[in-house]
Amino acid sequence: MQPCCCCLFLLCVFHFPGTWADLEGSFTVRLLQTSFFQNASFVDTEGLGLLQDIELGSLDKRTWSIRFHQPWVHPALLRSDWDTIQNMIRIYLKKFIHLIREGAAERNVPYPFVTQCMAGCEVYPNRTSQAFAYVAYNGQDFLSLDRNNDTWVVYQDNNFTRYVQAVLQNYTAFSELVEVLFNETCVDDMEVLVHYGKAALERQETPLATVFARTPNPAQLLLVCRVTGFYPRSISVAWLRDGKEVPPGPALNTTAILPNADLTYQLRSVLAVFPHDGHSYACRVRHRSLGTRSLLIPWENLSTAPTISIIIITVLLLVAIAFGGVVWWWKCRKCAEATWETQEFTI
Ligand SMILES: *[C@@H]1O[C@H](CO)[C@@H](O)[C@H](O)[C@H]1NC(C)=O
Ligand SMILES: *[C@@H]1O[C@H](CO)[C@@H](O)[C@H](O)[C@H]1NC(C)=O
Ligand SMILES: *[C@@H]1O[C@H](CO)[C@@H](O)[C@H](O)[C@H]1NC(C)=O
Ligand SMILES: *[C@@H]1O[C@H](CO)[C@@H](O)[C@H](O)[C@H]1NC(C)=O
Ligand SMILES: *[C@@H]1O[C@H](CO)[C@@H](O)[C@H](O)[C@H]1NC(C)=O
Ligand SMILES: *[C@@H]1O[C@H](CO)[C@@H](O)[C@H](O)[C@H]1NC(C)=O
Repeated sequence: MQPCCCCLFLLCVFHFPGTWADLEGSFTVRLLQTSFFQNASFVDTEGLGLLQDIELGSLDKRTWSIRFHQPWVHPALLRSDWDTIQNMIRIYLKKFIHLIREGAAERNVPYPFVTQCMAGCEVYPNRTSQAFAYVAYNGQDFLSLDRNNDTWVVYQDNNFTRYVQAVLQNYTAFSELVEVLFNETCVDDMEVLVHYGKAALERQETPLATVFARTPNPAQLLLVCRVTGFYPRSISVAWLRDGKEVPPGPALNTTAILPNADLTYQLRSVLAVFPHDGHSYACRVRHRSLGTRSLLIPWENLSTAPTISIIIITVLLLVAIAFGGVVWWWKCRKCAEATWETQEFTI
């Protein structure tokens, strides 16, 4: 079983000279594989390749052929190279499934079960790279590759993990492949992909932020800052109390950054306050798309106290107007009477 060979094969063929795109930061290529072993004769495999959080392509479940998810991925390599990669993936998957089935039979592993593999490499701005490979069994960490000594570390020490570890360790071609791949190839592969995917990597979407309040009970006010539609993923959201940042604490809850369907992200930050505490609150958002600017959305504190005074003032005004009206009417009646009197008098 070489769960990461899929990734290895894929990257191995990507060896192309190119010019390093003038993009800043670290870049990561990740290959994900999920295999669902229903029973001894049926397995369902899914594969996905990512550059940062951008989906490069996936594996067609039925035919095990590559489907490209971005228009710039296919032109990055020659057609014959993609054919080679596809054939290698097919060979790898056959071997992988065979090995797992054998191990499961040998160690009486019960069906059904799921294996997941995540492997790839990260290239730093100084052009050194770090490889990684993780394998999970039924959602639990199972094995990972230790890059310091090129050995497989087991997370669950049982019959099955030891067997898989031994098979991997015995497969010497694998270690050589790892060496070639992660010490030589990864930077160049990344170079081609980053070059072709420059526009997608540089995409920026401005966050949209709204502030509203919830009142779970009369003694508590939850101020919610909802930020959505931003890309890239990295963002800073904070609450300001009288212009000062509220430090982390039990009153402050910020959700994880969650994906939207259109490859933008969202999150919420909730601050618990006491109603009418006399402070001013604002939500501050900083994001790459905003440059040095930051979004500042104040909480419009239209609490019940002013509302009541507005009502009282309105009622008083209405009373005053009504009173004025009555007085005017009274006066007019009097003056009308006076007029009549005068008229009578003149007549
Ligand atoms: C294995 O699972 C598949 C899909 O659920 C099913 O169609 C097939 O009959 C099962 N085979 C055995 C031997 O249980
Ligand atoms: C390159 O950058 C990485 C990440 O910042 C660091 O861990 C590594 O030591 C650096 N390597 C060299 C040779 O500078
Ligand atoms: C490899 O290194 C890890 C710790 O980094 C250690 O636990 C493991 O025993 C080492 N393996 C071998 C074969 O030396
Ligand atoms: C690994 O190799 C050793 C020595 O060649 C052998 O004894 C052992 O059975 C092999 N293990 C597996 C799981 O293939
Ligand atoms: C990568 O290659 C360099 C020299 O080319 C070597 O010193 C280093 O040990 C290699 N790293 C790994 C993890 O094999
Ligand atoms: C924050 O989350 C924790 C755990 O979900 C919850 O106990 C706490 O009441 C929350 N605080 C606020 C201010 O929502």
